[in-house]
Amino acid sequence: MNRLCERAVRIGLPAVVFTEHLDFEDSWKVDAGDIGEHAQRYVDDTGYVRLPRFDVDGYLAAIDRCRSAYPELRILTGVEFGQPHIWDAQAASLLDSGVIDRVNGSLHMLPFGDNDRSEPTTLYRYMSADTVMWEYLAEIPRMVDGSDSFAVFTHIDYAVRSWPTFTAGPFDPVRFEEGFRGAMRSLAESGRALEMNTRRLWPWIPRWWAEEGGQAVSFGSDAHEAGSLAANFPEAMAMVESFGFKPGRRPEDFWTR
Ligand SMILES: [Fe+2]
Repeated sequence: MNRLCERAVRIGLPAVVFTEHLDFEDSWKVDAGDIGEHAQRYVDDTGYVRLPRFDVDGYLAAIDRCRSAYPELRILTGVEFGQPHIWDAQAASLLDSGVIDRVNGSLHMLPFGDNDRSEPTTLYRYMSADTVMWEYLAEIPRMVDGSDSFAVFTHIDYAVRSWPTFTAGPFDPVRFEEGFRGAMRSLAESGRALEMNTRRLWPWIPRWWAEEGGQAVSFGSDAHEAGSLAANFPEAMAMVESFGFKPGRRPEDFWTR
């Protein structure tokens, strides 16, 4: 967190939101190599990921330390809440307490087998690529209907990241256009913002979002280390501007149209 703050100051970023992962999944199945390096240490001998619970007090103390060390930087609290439609009740006491400024909702996992859930990266080994993609997109309206705790939907291209190009060919968003548009419609109708996740920039995301009635976007670089903080933000800002989105008053405000 220190390195991220230092980097933010150095590149002139006016504000950061530390959206720490908030997950209530006890465990989920992964195949070897299916999980990022930063989470490898949570995979046990049986191939299940076992995450430690979000340490709220530790997180808030760290935020306080950052605020004292970097008074020139606006630092906000946040969570990236995984599968909120399943875990809203468990998160309610934290999210109702008012200590969390920004609640992002993430869909990282889909049902897998009888009792498991797993990430697209693993699901692609067991189902056709198209099935995984359609199921991912179909789950988004269910997540919207099933939870009112999150204000922003993150990385709508999550299942695209691990798309198996080698067996399924290059990913073509137009083939899944109706699924993306339907997901966006449900998000727009519920008044939520769509995150422009700048790990990858896709012009069809803000275009379809605006066409489906989306009114607000946020920017997230998904930076798990300081070097990628705010990566591609200038390009993302130019892109959403061309679809009519404009910045708000404060740096952390959504861009709206
Ligand atoms: Fe995520």
